[in-house]
Formats: sequence, C-alpha cells, structure tokens
Amino acid sequence: MTSDATWAGSMPAVYDDCLGPVLFEPFAHELATRAAALRPARVLEVAAGTGVVTRQLRAALPEAAIVATDLNAGMAAEGARRVPDVEWRTADAADLGVPDASVDLVVCSFGAMFFPDRPAAYAEAARALAPGGRLLFTVWDVVDRSTFTAAVVAALAEVLPEQTPQFIERVPHGYADPAVVTTDVVAGGLAVERFDTVVLPAEAPSARSLAEGFCLGTPLRFALELHGPLDELTDAVAARLTERLGEGPLSGELGAHVVTARAAD
Ligand SMILES: C[S@@+](CC[C@H](N)C(=O)[O-])C[C@H]1O[C@@H](n2cnc3c(N)ncnc32)[C@H](O)[C@@H]1O
Repeated sequence: MTSDATWAGSMPAVYDDCLGPVLFEPFAHELATRAAALRPARVLEVAAGTGVVTRQLRAALPEAAIVATDLNAGMAAEGARRVPDVEWRTADAADLGVPDASVDLVVCSFGAMFFPDRPAAYAEAARALAPGGRLLFTVWDVVDRSTFTAAVVAALAEVLPEQTPQFIERVPHGYADPAVVTTDVVAGGLAVERFDTVVLPAEAPSARSLAEGFCLGTPLRFALELHGPLDELTDAVAARLTERLGEGPLSGELGAHVVTARAAD
C-alpha cells in the first residue's frame, strides 16, 4: 500500500543522493542557522527524512540533545546511517510519542505538505514544546519559484500529455499560500512569530540526476508506475529535462517559506 507520503525500498537512498544536496541542503543551512540563534537545549526534528537538516542541526548545536523522527521507517533508517550521532525514531507528526513540554525547539523541513491534518500536527508540536518554545519549519512556495522542479513539471507534461501526474503541484508545492499556513499554525495553538518567503540559489550536477531523483526517489514514482515501465518513463523525463536545461551542471533558484511559530508562555 503506497501513498503520497510513502518512501520505501530504494527511495530514501535515491532521494538523499539526487535531491538532498540540490533541493534540501540550501534550506537546511538556513534552518540550522535560525535554530542555533534560538539556543535550544532539546531539539525534536519531525519528518526528518534522511537527515539532511539533522546533520546541519548537529553541527550548529553541538551541545543540544537532538531526536530526529520520520513517519517512514526506511527514511529514518537511512537517516540513522547517515547521521548516527543523534537519536532516531519512527513517528507520525501527529503522534510524536514524547512527553508534554519536553523540548525547546521542533524543526520540520519540507514535511508539513505531506501531513493529512496539518493543524493536528502543529497542535502535537505545541504539546511537545516547553512554554515559549518554537516550531521552526519550511514549506515550498508555488512550483514556478523553483527552477528545477518547474522544469520537471514541464517535462512530465511533455512525456505524459494526456494524463500528466499532478503530484508535484498538488503535494510538495500544494501548501504554498501563506494565509493558509498561518491559519493552520494558529489552529494548532501556536503564534506565528516570523514568516519569510525566501529564494536561495541551487546547483544540480545534471538533468539526469534530477530526473532520477524525482521519478525514483519521491512518491511521484507511484503515479508514473500507473503509466508504464518506470525506467523508460524516467529516461523520457531525463531526455526532456536535458533538452530544457542542458546536461549540467545546472544553476537555479529555490523558493520556500521559512516560518517560526511560538508556543504560549
Ligand atoms: C520531502 S521529505 C523531507 C525530508 C527532510 N526533512 C529533508 O529536508 O530532507 C518529506 C518527509 O516527510 C515525511 N513524512 C510524510 N508524512 C509524514 C507524517 N505524517 N509524519 C512524519 N513524517 C512524515 C516523509 O517520510 C519524508 O521523509
């Protein structure tokens, strides 16, 4: 059984190799810098994936106790392999399994878009936070603000013009409205302290690795598998992406919202 939030089998490794450094590392640095400025002693990371942000948090907060969690056991296992010097657990964002008021900072990098009930996940973060603690998180802006991802969407439309998978626009880039995000955070019992729309530069080694990352290392693969052999469709997306962007190395931009929310004192 798969869903829009499933990462299983080879997906975590492909995600980390092909997409981690390109799409997630730039904002990982941004989040770790903001986390360090808050000087938390106890940090809980939600939807930590393969540990792209976790690694940066560990480096930025060498004294802090850090627990990293993810819904998918395969992601958490890959994270534990790549960032072994924090504690890893499998947990749903809506049921984190930590005591009330037990952490100073909850961090979530590009996870909220996948949560079926975002106010419930924010309420769970609020429950875990000590009075005055912070939730620091990122969500993608609309897809046109991210060069490489927008090109993948265009390539997919050329490869499957009749039944173009909408996963990218609907899920990772489908939670981009600042008003909606703010309303959900407040519904979860937190106050939005800072909401920044940020554009960062990004580099990708090749169009081919981007196509492989999206087609094989994200839940887009389940939508593609409905339309034909995955390897052939990946090759076709890679070819169209190369026509659009060149073989690489490639330069582009990433657009996202970076949000700090505060628990009540
Ligand atoms: C795009 S990845 C981001 C991973 C990581 N934070 C990063 O920046 O590389 C989204 C992550 O959300 C996780 N996820 C999806 N639904 C979740 C849920 N309900 N609770 C916790 N994690 C979830 C997925 O397993 C995946 O690791």
